[in-house]
Amino acid sequence: MTADRKTRTQTQKSPSKRGGSHGPRPLACVILAGGLGTRMRSALPKVLHTVCGKPMISYPLSAAWGLRPQKTVIVTGVSSHEDITRALSTAGDAPEKTKMKLSFALQREALGTGHALLTAMKELKGFGGSVVVLNGDFPLITPGTVRKLLGLHRRHGNSVTLGSFIAQDPGPYGRIVRDSAGLPERIVEKTDLTPAHEGIREVNSGLYVLEPEAADLLGKIEKNRTKKEYYLTDILALARATGLRTGAYPIAPEQEFAGVNNFRELCMAESIMRRRIVEGLMENGVRFVNPGSAFLDAGVSCAPGVVIYPNVHLQGSTSIGKGCIIYPNVRIIDSVIREGALVLDSSVIESSDVGNDSQIGPFAHLRPGSVIRRSAKIGNFVEIKKSTIGEGTKAMHLSYIGDSSVGNSVNIGAGTITCNYDGVNKHRTVIEDGVFIGSDSQLVAPVTIKRGSFVAAGSTITKDVPEESLAISRVEQKNVEGWARKKRGGSKTAPGKKMAQGKTRGTTRKGL
Ligand code: UD1
Ligand code: CA
Repeated sequence: MTADRKTRTQTQKSPSKRGGSHGPRPLACVILAGGLGTRMRSALPKVLHTVCGKPMISYPLSAAWGLRPQKTVIVTGVSSHEDITRALSTAGDAPEKTKMKLSFALQREALGTGHALLTAMKELKGFGGSVVVLNGDFPLITPGTVRKLLGLHRRHGNSVTLGSFIAQDPGPYGRIVRDSAGLPERIVEKTDLTPAHEGIREVNSGLYVLEPEAADLLGKIEKNRTKKEYYLTDILALARATGLRTGAYPIAPEQEFAGVNNFRELCMAESIMRRRIVEGLMENGVRFVNPGSAFLDAGVSCAPGVVIYPNVHLQGSTSIGKGCIIYPNVRIIDSVIREGALVLDSSVIESSDVGNDSQIGPFAHLRPGSVIRRSAKIGNFVEIKKSTIGEGTKAMHLSYIGDSSVGNSVNIGAGTITCNYDGVNKHRTVIEDGVFIGSDSQLVAPVTIKRGSFVAAGSTITKDVPEESLAISRVEQKNVEGWARKKRGGSKTAPGKKMAQGKTRGTTRKGL
């Protein structure tokens, strides 16, 4: 804050030929994502690597959307263009994106950030407004910070404004060199540092605002001699030399601007993001038994009163209703868990809807398309796929229920299997309200068990079962008296009996 006030005063003292008087102009945003991302050593474009479940680029994009720009241009590269355009045109945050009227500028050769912005300006031909530029690789940026920089830029009537931050270790960032009056003079990249720059900890964030008179200078940026690239950072010195008003303001802590260039930095950014998400939810009344081992994506919502045990992974657009308890080692993806539900240890829930006051697990697996209605119980080692389970229905042990519609108050015995696949096609099983399925039954689909019926344990059901009836399909039991004794060669006592009297198996054998 102190630095902020200091630089502001200094900028105001700056003589300026132009600038200083313009009111807010129409606004466009440019996101730079045309780099090669070589330091990631990955085939996936850098900005598509996810941070807490969302592609890195979606964060600067949301920050840009906070300004409600008239246009947003994303600079892509030859190797990343297709992937980036596809990723940003499919679902996810689509509503925001469609409103943003995104356009893409293909930078055919990664000739540096200055060249990237110049490429984007072609898309903005005739626009004539202010342009906010954001690097695509700083996912921790917040809309508030972008708004703050734009505010400073307008208040000072600058032609070029950049956000800076004070780095603990300035490492790979461009150093902000200030003149004796404290005004920003130029930016020196890591490759061009000399001993004179030692000790500079104020660095360039990768967030800029440019007025048209500054954007006009982009073509004048010269190739950097060391890296053979056109550096956008050179715009500062160029604008200053032309007499334009410039400013650099340390507007946010280092954390917000942590650039991601490799997997180490990605991991660091993600752990900060994760903490942000968890802390936000704690403020909202969610209890984390161990916040350090909760892994929640940015799109997850949790109502107050939720309790989350250690090592829980909540992913995608999952939402957890009031009073739910999520026990250890659970993973839930793109699912809705409604009020009062319990998800017991080591369960996996994918793209499913879990009703109020129901209970899932331990060790249950709900695969995509499962709908579990109110107060149902899905227990140990039960797998459900693309099925609806009615209110108060129980499947507590060792079952597979696939492509099924199960009514209310049904009891599914241990080891029940819906045989939904005949090797070629999938078929549906219908189990109506109040049915009792005995343990170890196989229901060979397509098949319907009508309301209120019973299926005897161990049955293989291949035909529909009418209402209120018993279906039993197993070989009738026959007891052959004395059969076992005869098999043992006439011994009167079963081995189990002697063992029970304290003899070891060895001594029993000796006696024979
Ligand atoms: C850049 C800045 C540096 C700043 C840092 C903040 C330059 C020259 N340096 O360095 O001052 O401290 O960001 O994180 O700008 N890109 C393109 N086309 C290209 C090259 C890059 O679109 O030809 C994009 C990248 O995809 C990336 C962004 O621009 O999203 C920044 O590029 P990167 O190579 O990561 O710059 P840094 O070396 O981190
Ligand atoms: Ca970078």
